Amino acid sequence: MAQQFLNNAYHLDSSAATRSLYKDWAASYEEEIVENGYASPVRTAEALVKCNAPLDVPLLDIGCGTGLSGVILQSAGFTELQGSDFSPEMLAEAKAKGIYTHLHQADLNDPFEFVTEPFAVITAIGVFAPGHALPETIATIVELLTVGGLFGFSMNDHTLENPGYMADINRLIDERVVRVRWQEYGEHLPGIGLNSVIMVLERIA
Ligand SMILES: C[S@@+](CC[C@H](N)C(=O)[O-])C[C@H]1O[C@@H](n2cnc3c(N)ncnc32)[C@H](O)[C@@H]1O
Repeated sequence: MAQQFLNNAYHLDSSAATRSLYKDWAASYEEEIVENGYASPVRTAEALVKCNAPLDVPLLDIGCGTGLSGVILQSAGFTELQGSDFSPEMLAEAKAKGIYTHLHQADLNDPFEFVTEPFAVITAIGVFAPGHALPETIATIVELLTVGGLFGFSMNDHTLENPGYMADINRLIDERVVRVRWQEYGEHLPGIGLNSVIMVLERIA
């Protein structure tokens, strides 16, 4: 059996550890995660479609990894995918799929210097987790949206144990920067009994 990495993904305490995990995992990531019934990409894509996200405009898939999320977004009808990730090994797998018009190697905890025009749709699927994206990244990503733009993302049970993520989202709601268009708890990786919340936030100011 191929080496298993999934459980290591939830015990990361630094960006360096996360980058190192995905370097070793890139070649077998999809097999392991699909085997465990990875459901958040299809749930996020369906939520965005139900919120009437435009399909024919550039969509930025942050933390696109090997492009598994992109394949599912494309199946849901999104036609112009761009991706970003800080792992060159994961990005190489995404590039091989030929489904992204642009791929950017970037750490999402840094300013998004490669974004020159706001996006009407952004996703971050499987990306908010310990050692991955910090809670304050949510506000940074919202600033990359057009007013009226939609941000679809997942937060798994481990992520939700850190109250910082929901606190940052609630602050953006209270300040009337965003409104919640979709929020649903369901399966993330049923093979290991892990669930997630899928949220779609609309930038309103
Ligand atoms: C669980 S994978 C999800 C990949 C893809 N979105 C999917 O659904 O299959 C998380 C991805 O986030 C990326 N990532 C983690 N921390 C990051 C950071 N600080 N900056 C950029 N990418 C990061 C990893 O390299 C990895 O490709």
